Amino acid sequence: MSNTHNRTRYALVGTGNRGTTMWGGELLAGWSDHVDLVGICDLNLMRAERARGMIGGDAPLYADFATLMAEQKPSLVIVCTPDHNHDDIIVAALEAGADVISEKPLTTTVEKIARIRDAEARTGRRVDVSFNYRFAPTAAKMKELIDAGTIGQVTSVDFHWYLDNRHGADYFRRWHAFEKNSGSLFVHKATHHFDLLNWYLGSDPVEVKAFGELLHYGAKGPFRGPRCRICPHRDECPYFFDLAADGFLDALYEDPSEVDGYVRDACVFREDIDIPDTMTAVIRYASGAQVSYSLNTYMPVEGHHIAFNGHLGRIELRQYEKQPWEMPKADEILVVRSFGGGVERIEMPHQPGGHYGGDNLMRDMIFKGERPDPLGQRAGSRAGAVSVLTGLAALKSARTGGAVRLQDIAPPGIF
Ligand SMILES: NC(=O)c1ccc[n+]([C@@H]2O[C@H](COP(=O)([O-])OP(=O)(O)OC[C@H]3O[C@@H](n4cnc5c(N)ncnc54)[C@H](O)[C@@H]3O)[C@@H](O)[C@H]2O)c1
Repeated sequence: MSNTHNRTRYALVGTGNRGTTMWGGELLAGWSDHVDLVGICDLNLMRAERARGMIGGDAPLYADFATLMAEQKPSLVIVCTPDHNHDDIIVAALEAGADVISEKPLTTTVEKIARIRDAEARTGRRVDVSFNYRFAPTAAKMKELIDAGTIGQVTSVDFHWYLDNRHGADYFRRWHAFEKNSGSLFVHKATHHFDLLNWYLGSDPVEVKAFGELLHYGAKGPFRGPRCRICPHRDECPYFFDLAADGFLDALYEDPSEVDGYVRDACVFREDIDIPDTMTAVIRYASGAQVSYSLNTYMPVEGHHIAFNGHLGRIELRQYEKQPWEMPKADEILVVRSFGGGVERIEMPHQPGGHYGGDNLMRDMIFKGERPDPLGQRAGSRAGAVSVLTGLAALKSARTGGAVRLQDIAPPGIF
């Protein structure tokens, strides 16, 4: 049944892969009773045009965000531009009277965090951050177990995330490869992971000590070329990426690159790449918990390991995404109780949709009216800010060699 009185009039800003799929075609297909797309904005109008063709419908296109806001007056703006300019769109949207869903990371610097938080407080509007991993059923189950005191107080966490040499490499093909655009993968990617930790533990990080080096991509590569499509090393390079073989990405990025020079298959071995590809961090929490974390970007497997260690036992998960052997049909959470308490094996079948099923459940939570949120899965700007600050502290620690206290870098009003 259509729910016309509750439909959200939203604008989509940024029509790359994420905007076009998650917040474009998928949102309109799956939540059609709840949303109307009233405007699409991208600096690159050719990409916006292509995206609209993929999304469907006839929402008007804008290169200028202020004009979109003035003409269409959406009540919600979904921000899917590169990380470093999220703040410009978020602040302008809030000031024009709209609520915002920002793709992660919320932003990339301390100053930009302060700008967003000030605008949110000043306008009284709401900023959601798309922390879809909180909604993965395995994550929700582990949060429930922790909150129920199953292993007593959590005293330490082992958390290791592996990106494979396709997905991981993708960050080194594009704008993410430069700190000024992404804040490094300690911000761009680890924002998900630091947010998960903050949420699981229900506590704030206090201090971070980290290492991060470029050991595989960038200047460490054996050769380089201008871009895969015309690279003289295409036959010998394991990272050769055939954009033309992917109809969706080719249509969205190749011809539109003539407008803005944004090529989707830039060389992963560019000499000026300035972000680490191999990262580790230890984090101390206000609760007393200690975390050891790592992020690797060129693995033959994709997925993560996490284990929570407490006074009364241990909860662990190895979550598989991609690997060169048979995938298990379900994920298994192991709850191992100390002192002869045995092991409980909790089988979690794989869910459809992106991010272990989290993408769909997050959109249900946001768009299907007020819903109970007993696990606190819906994330706002503070959660976005704290996870970015954790990444900025880690990057600073990796660059300077010292431990970094979050309080020393945070803008006022966060802690
Ligand atoms: N939550 C998740 O799991 C998840 C997954 C993928 C991407 N993302 C996030 O989504 C965002 C977009 O990622 P993507 O891979 O689609 O990026 P992309 O580079 O493919 O697309 C970004 C688009 O924004 C446009 N753009 C740049 N500046 C703009 C501006 N000022 N105004 C309007 N348009 C502008 C570009 O022309 C481009 O079309 C990033 O912040 C990324 O971190 C989140």
